Amino acid sequence: MSLKKSTSILQNKNAITYAQRANSWWSGVQMGPPDVILGVTEAYKRDSNPKKINLGAGAYRDDEGKPYVLSCVRKAEEKLRSKNLDKEYAPITGSADFCKLSIELALGDNSDQIANGLNATVQGISGTGSLRIGAAFLNGFFPGNKVVYLPTPSWGNHIPIFKHSGLDVKSYRYYDPKTCGLDFAGALDDISKIPEKSIVLLHACAHNPTGVDPSKEQWAELSQLIKKKNLFPFFDLAYQGFATGNVDNDAFAVCLFVKDGHKIALAQSYAKNMGLYGERAGAFSILGESNDEAERVLSQIKILIRALYSNPPINGARLVTEILGDAQLRSEWLQEVKGMADRIISVRTKLRDNLKKEGSTKNWEHITNQIGMFCFTGMNAQQVERLTKDFSIYLTKDGRISMAGVTSKNVDYLAHAMHEVTK
Ligand SMILES: Cc1ncc(COP(=O)(O)O)c(C=O)c1O
Repeated sequence: MSLKKSTSILQNKNAITYAQRANSWWSGVQMGPPDVILGVTEAYKRDSNPKKINLGAGAYRDDEGKPYVLSCVRKAEEKLRSKNLDKEYAPITGSADFCKLSIELALGDNSDQIANGLNATVQGISGTGSLRIGAAFLNGFFPGNKVVYLPTPSWGNHIPIFKHSGLDVKSYRYYDPKTCGLDFAGALDDISKIPEKSIVLLHACAHNPTGVDPSKEQWAELSQLIKKKNLFPFFDLAYQGFATGNVDNDAFAVCLFVKDGHKIALAQSYAKNMGLYGERAGAFSILGESNDEAERVLSQIKILIRALYSNPPINGARLVTEILGDAQLRSEWLQEVKGMADRIISVRTKLRDNLKKEGSTKNWEHITNQIGMFCFTGMNAQQVERLTKDFSIYLTKDGRISMAGVTSKNVDYLAHAMHEVTK
């Protein structure tokens, strides 16, 4: 046998062995289901109907339906460019300035907690990564029941985030499908039955997916109950400023709980309120009883982060720091976030009014009672299917629409279609 031929036989044999081995390593891996929301966007992209609307994805669009980069972000980018900064690693906990500005944004500039160094704050990879750090810390160190109670329903990623970190997940009643509003009595009843020293997750504002938030009085009652039951509140603050257009208003529940003496955990995101979706800027904080406790907590969070991803990305945090740390850019941002919130509030009103004009006799008040990016319309899976099939309007089967995808141009068509499938 020639050397060439024997080499090629050997190569074939190797190829077969590799193939077999590759087969055997992963042959037991089943095909996973596609992500529900990304699946909606994929189907939307394939549709050639010029009237098509994508109401699945939770990302803000301007009134032309286009992605929106805030002008304060563009200016911050210019400022950063002129600084010619290096690309060195950030510390494990991220930028110290960013952490300080973030916790101040949530708790207010005059917070005693911050002044007394009670907060352990780290930069996280947007809201998701910040929740994941919190979940890892609670799984490692929470001294009570390692169970997180989520509202029903909750953001689709909460369950996997907490389960992935090893925590158990249970639920409490939150949304009432009959009223498309808050099931406050159900929430109080369920929370009052949660075993002491468990973790309760609370959406600080603009609850996703329902758009249903407790009133200020209801938050006060929840705070008292959660205190009486000795539960640990973990706040997810993913929409500060985006709900009402006012960052302090949207941090009301967080500040109230802190004022009531709760030592909270807090995950923050700048994806929606600064439109920094892909920059992955966020923060995670724990409030301790003392500065010494906060420092011990921080030291353990650092160890977890080091193993998870070592240190966070620098660019988004730099942009946030430029914006929050500069009086001019900050005030521009506050106006722009209000502009986004106001646009959403105005299309909510238009949608509700247009449904009435179409002749709908259904009660659509919840469209304007709900707040933030999403509206839980109350449409069922068959009605959603008809909206997609007959009108090229794409949304998740639970009837949730992203109000960010509704514009002054498509709101008439949407109202008409919603009326057709619900009458
Ligand atoms: C309730 C809630 N928490 C957290 C997030 C996290 O988003 P991100 O990781 O993009 O900041 C989202 C995004 O949709 C959300 O709705």
